[in-house]
Amino acid sequence: MKKIVVLGSLNMDMFMTTERLPMIGETICSDQLHYMVGGKGSNQAVAASRMGIYTSLLGCIGNDAFGEKIQKHLSKESLDISSLNIEKDISTGIATVFKTKNNNAIVVNPGANNYCDLQTVEQNIQIIKQADVLLTQLEIPIETVEYALQKAKEFGVTTILNPAPYKEIPTGLLQYIDYLTPNDTEFESMMNGELESSGDLETDMLEWSMRNNVKLIVTRGSQGSSFVENGQMTTVPCSSVDVVDTTGAGDTFNGIFAYAIAEKKELRDAVRMAVIGATLSVTAFGAQRGMPSLKELEKYL
Ligand code: RIB
Repeated sequence: MKKIVVLGSLNMDMFMTTERLPMIGETICSDQLHYMVGGKGSNQAVAASRMGIYTSLLGCIGNDAFGEKIQKHLSKESLDISSLNIEKDISTGIATVFKTKNNNAIVVNPGANNYCDLQTVEQNIQIIKQADVLLTQLEIPIETVEYALQKAKEFGVTTILNPAPYKEIPTGLLQYIDYLTPNDTEFESMMNGELESSGDLETDMLEWSMRNNVKLIVTRGSQGSSFVENGQMTTVPCSSVDVVDTTGAGDTFNGIFAYAIAEKKELRDAVRMAVIGATLSVTAFGAQRGMPSLKELEKYL
């Protein structure tokens, strides 16, 4: 049986829908407020598990009402959450999502996610060892991410890092990554930190890929996703849909991509599945609601 382990954040997403984002120093009123389960780790794990693959989620929540709600919600998915850490007297991560018609802006208070440490990885080392793919992001401490990726590599597990939210990636960490999946903004920040960006995505992706032995896939919102293979950049476009909410689209991409890689699909096919899944996900409100099942996704393949 193929297995994925997702190490990452869990948040309670507090959605405030507004006509527009506030300006600096301004107060505006939101018309609706919704509490929904999110966090990049939790979202990616749900997206992967909906593909029908055995998925374990490793991460930390607080022993508060939001932590309980998250556990209750995730236990309805086919997802193994039995190894989540519950931190005593620490609050669960909260993300305030300011959502306008076509966009969003998010502020995260990591809370318990900051307690996801090397010990969390050690406690769950057997789960990582037995996985086909480890998928992680940067919403937990980067030392933890690095340690988990290093261990996974030692065990021969395929690794995927979604460098979101963007933090500078230490050069030493790249050796433990098989696939790197920034979005276009994150890739731009990566380039500005490392090389002189040419301002042209293809040139930059090829240049970066020549210097690093990591497969690079850049997610580009409504323009689909681009990846580099054999010295060439390929773009998989996405279809146009009625967008309700883009929150979690990147997470849907990553979860489905991890599934496809665990199933040993070709890179192009893996990206294609992930693009279709991410496109479908934006047609419903909230990060996880629109994530498709494998059956739903297959209709569009
Ligand atoms: O990627 C979307 C997620 O980012 C939200 O669910 C929010 O929790 C933040 O982590």
